[in-house]
Amino acid sequence: MADIQSTNAAAPAIIHRQDYSPPDWFVPEISLDFTLDPASTQVRATLSVTRNGAHERPLILDGDGLSPMEVQVDGRLLQGGEWMMKGDALVIPLPGDAHQIETLVELAPENNSKLMGLYASGGLLCTQCEAEGFRRITFFPDRPDILSRYSVCMEADQTRYPILLSNGDPVEQGSLPNGRHWARWNDPFPKPCYLFALVAGDLSCKADSFVTMSGRTVRLGIWVKEGDLPRTDHAMQALKNSMAWDERVYGREYDLDVFNIVAVADFNFGAMENKGLNIFNSRYILADPETATDIDYDGVEAVVAHEYFHNWSGNRVTCRDWFQLSLKEGFTVFRDQNFSADMGSHAVKRIEDVRVLRAAQFQEDSGPLAHPVRPESYIEISNFYTATIYNKGAELIRMIALMLGPDRFRAGSDLYFDRHDGQAATCEDFVKAMEEGGGIDLRQFRRWYEQAGTPHVRATLRHDPAAQTVELLLEQSIPPTPGQPDKQPMAIPLRTALFDRAVGRHRGETLLMLTQAQQSFTFSGFADAPILSINRGFSAPVIVEADRSQTELAFLSAHDDDPFARYEAMQQLMVNVLVGRVAGQNIDEGAVVAAIRDTATDPKLDPAFIAEAIRLPSEAYLGDQMAQVDPDAIHAARDALQQRIGQQLEPLWRDIHANMKANGFSLSPAAKGARKLRNIALLYLVASGTDDGPTMAFSQFDEADNMTERQSALATLANNISNEREAALDIFYNRYRSDALTLDKWFQTQAFASHPDTVDLVEELARHPDFTLSNPNRVRSLFGAFAGNQWAFHHKSGKGYRMVADCIIALDKINPQTAARLAPPLGRWRRFDEGRAVLMRAELQRILAEPGLSKDVAEQVGKSLN
Ligand code: PHE
Ligand code: ZN
Repeated sequence: MADIQSTNAAAPAIIHRQDYSPPDWFVPEISLDFTLDPASTQVRATLSVTRNGAHERPLILDGDGLSPMEVQVDGRLLQGGEWMMKGDALVIPLPGDAHQIETLVELAPENNSKLMGLYASGGLLCTQCEAEGFRRITFFPDRPDILSRYSVCMEADQTRYPILLSNGDPVEQGSLPNGRHWARWNDPFPKPCYLFALVAGDLSCKADSFVTMSGRTVRLGIWVKEGDLPRTDHAMQALKNSMAWDERVYGREYDLDVFNIVAVADFNFGAMENKGLNIFNSRYILADPETATDIDYDGVEAVVAHEYFHNWSGNRVTCRDWFQLSLKEGFTVFRDQNFSADMGSHAVKRIEDVRVLRAAQFQEDSGPLAHPVRPESYIEISNFYTATIYNKGAELIRMIALMLGPDRFRAGSDLYFDRHDGQAATCEDFVKAMEEGGGIDLRQFRRWYEQAGTPHVRATLRHDPAAQTVELLLEQSIPPTPGQPDKQPMAIPLRTALFDRAVGRHRGETLLMLTQAQQSFTFSGFADAPILSINRGFSAPVIVEADRSQTELAFLSAHDDDPFARYEAMQQLMVNVLVGRVAGQNIDEGAVVAAIRDTATDPKLDPAFIAEAIRLPSEAYLGDQMAQVDPDAIHAARDALQQRIGQQLEPLWRDIHANMKANGFSLSPAAKGARKLRNIALLYLVASGTDDGPTMAFSQFDEADNMTERQSALATLANNISNEREAALDIFYNRYRSDALTLDKWFQTQAFASHPDTVDLVEELARHPDFTLSNPNRVRSLFGAFAGNQWAFHHKSGKGYRMVADCIIALDKINPQTAARLAPPLGRWRRFDEGRAVLMRAELQRILAEPGLSKDVAEQVGKSLN
């Protein structure tokens, strides 16, 4: 196998956490001069460097695809032999302890399709530096523990690039001959280079202001193309709410006089927290009722908050090295989750967050790419912007907050921010601050940072009628993960309650700390056997296996006062029926239908909660509950149950669909909840097979005054073969073809449809003139959605695997980061039957055999084959 050989020959370096050593040189100041032009931009950088300690090592400046046109030291132009290139890095031996280094490089932003470094997007020039993009702009020690003060001067064509933005505050600007102009920005806060940003373009500003808690006025600007200005209101409101929330909840105030956000169409991730100049994927800024769903609105609010919160958790206190990524990301996700909960419903937000965690992070944790929240090694850091770092990282902070309670948690976070302000810190620093500030011992808890894999907790309840006691036996185990065959017990906080069957209530919740492999807890005063409600609020990111009968689950689905536990009981009821059916057992569905009816008609419940609770678990989640995933059987069982729920409760669905129709559009939580419930009623109604289902869906599609109802009706129609399906898709396309973000929904809805021909349709869509590999949103809306569509992607022909592999291969040459993010679904081959596993592995091997594969894809695919 010559291919494996060539892969090995190019085997990229593995970076290990244990190899961290402090930098040889610091760079307290940097001044950057940009002469901007899409075809040829010149970057002159002046670095003041100081030697760190006594050593003789040269200054090594990272570069990526750069060649120096000039190198000067202390104002003297160096000759050829006085510096050298070591790979992509620039090496300069220096005699003294402090010098001024000046370099000049030339870039072609318009040819930068990786969207890292300085690139062109829709007429703009913009930057993306996290994690290691700054080295594509200038030679620099590109590591987050180098903190520098930046002074940035940009010069550009006045007509094409009238707006010039960078970090910090604007200090000076002026015009030049030949229709050019310039602007200088200074950022007074020392920052790592991954937080550097600049934007040049013809942008319009949605301007507002915010008065901070100490009375300073901050100028806020959201910069977009002129035509998009009407779609910025929600983002601006979210920004102001975030600023107020961080003051109120964490005591954190904004620290510059301006805060700018720019929306760009081509972006690899969601958004970026550059100091004072956040750059966003436009899908997380632009929203109006015509084009944005309620989910989109919530996404805008959450991401605006997330990036804003990074100003403290990420920027003022940054990461020492990239192994500490969760220090900023896990904490910031935790902060944005709580913010969104405060803006809307805590119960529904928790359910949504857990659904995301289970869909993305649990899958990661149980597959070949599993890694700890603080990883031990990586090849390409871009591959570690994962659900584990972000979402499991947030769960760790949530557990600490739960164990401490709000006041002690706040004391811990105050200590953390005060102690490490202006520093590059570690996860360990955070945990220590929580221990000291909060007054808690987190020695065993640290294992959550070290051990990968989702813990399983078995819960068994034994009732002793004579002693009137119950014993709760808890056993934990953590499956092996790559490089970690054996695990130590974790400290697992489990919010627990025992329900009296007769009265439908419990006698108070307790927080049980499971710290050993096996542990039992005894409760007295129970004449009758109670019903166990455990991991309430999803207090720990674990998989609980508790033997509870359908009757007991039905009881909890009606009586549990913890909304998450109530939702969970309902889902478990459904899982039991569906997984049982896939395994060939005929478990009675009566309890499910009754629970759905009772929940949907309970006047005390919030419609948004009802909508979550009565939805069937996704096919992917059902697959996760089985030793081997059978995509066809899962689909068939779920589809059949959905149909019967539709049929048996048809009048109810008609009622809800009629009653939840609003007069006029509003974004109030009540209005959003009503839409959510109305959409699921429509789904069940169409699933029932009733004759007028497709026409009802079509009318909702046609008459909707908002995208939530329109897209949901379209998605419902997309699942079935009907004339209405084709008509709605055509209308949608023609109505929104010129609006990229909305056209993404057209691709996504079809790629995600539960339709027997989805594989073929996606193949056609990949050849559609509006499909392009150069825009990450478009790629994700087609192939990202498709790879998440279990039934379609795992079509037993293997065609789905082949299409995704083809996409990865083609995209790798353009944008390796985004290509690599499509690989994990192919890596789940161990979970499938031999036939599918062979096909999936063959595609992984085909990708790996590609000459010139990026580190990004090579790492993900290589690990996925193990
Ligand atoms: N740091 C960004 C965030 O807020 C994510 C990101 C990483 C964006 C890398 C771009 C590139 O989560
Ligand atoms: Zn982040």
